[in-house]
Amino acid sequence: MTIEILQPYKLLPDCAAALEKQFTVHKLFEAEDKAAFLKEVGPRIRGLAASGKIDAAMIAALPALEIIANIGVGYDSIDVAAAKARNIRVTNTPDVLNDAVAELTVGMMLALSRRIPQADRFVREGRWARGESFPFSVELTGRTLGILGLGRIGKEIASRAQGLRMRVVYSGRNKQEKEPYSYYADLEEMARDCDWLVVIAPGGKATEGIVSRRVLEALGPQGMLVNMARGSVVDQEALVELLQSGGLGGAALDVFVNEPNVPEALLAMDNVLLSPHVASATQQTRDAMGALMAKNLVAHFKGDPLPSAVV
Ligand code: GLV
Repeated sequence: MTIEILQPYKLLPDCAAALEKQFTVHKLFEAEDKAAFLKEVGPRIRGLAASGKIDAAMIAALPALEIIANIGVGYDSIDVAAAKARNIRVTNTPDVLNDAVAELTVGMMLALSRRIPQADRFVREGRWARGESFPFSVELTGRTLGILGLGRIGKEIASRAQGLRMRVVYSGRNKQEKEPYSYYADLEEMARDCDWLVVIAPGGKATEGIVSRRVLEALGPQGMLVNMARGSVVDQEALVELLQSGGLGGAALDVFVNEPNVPEALLAMDNVLLSPHVASATQQTRDAMGALMAKNLVAHFKGDPLPSAVV
């Protein structure tokens, strides 16, 4: 008898196929009556292949659940406390996405500072051919980049930024003695000293709104915010207001508070670059994330150590 797992959301075909080779996979997203489906298969489910919200109610509906394997490094969408209370293991997919996320971060910074989307539009609209001149932009070279969250991805962003000849500083829970960058215990103070603030700290209660109005004001009218982490880390209302009033110079955002909804006001702003939460979305990286999720599930049911356990 194969082990039965639940797949609440759609996965990439390769990842779904890998799971189906090893397990009996029940696809909740395909069920018309989800409650009835859960009632029927719920008691037999021992593993969960997660790629979205897993709340306490879902966990409660699965009394035999042993492991939640998340595809994604962030696991703020999972009620980890509810899992822990029942000794359910939780895994994520760290490291395999570091390069993809760091690349897009740098890409967003270059696109925002050098106004790449606007330049492209300018040419397509025939304005260059008509003799108009494209306005000057600003360089990253020589600017100070503050990274909020110098974790595995933050370090990859830092080294790429050094390649762009930026000065790198950071803030986060702890000073990391082995890192060459200056540390700020106070985020507002770092924002005041920075031209760019890149947010790459984990989401969840502990970081909710820590990029506050005061931090954004400290970054200032020339300052640029880049959020590649979670919408929840930034006070989105203050962000929109300060971008509107000129209190903040610009923003590049891959994540938002209530995805896929983006505040209407941002859509009209020329000093804002938007992207649909795709920092890790390359074929190579998503394949690697899917493979790591499957590896965690297989290891668990073989009784092997988990490759990337959160709890
Ligand atoms: C993406 O947002 C992830 O957490 O991997």
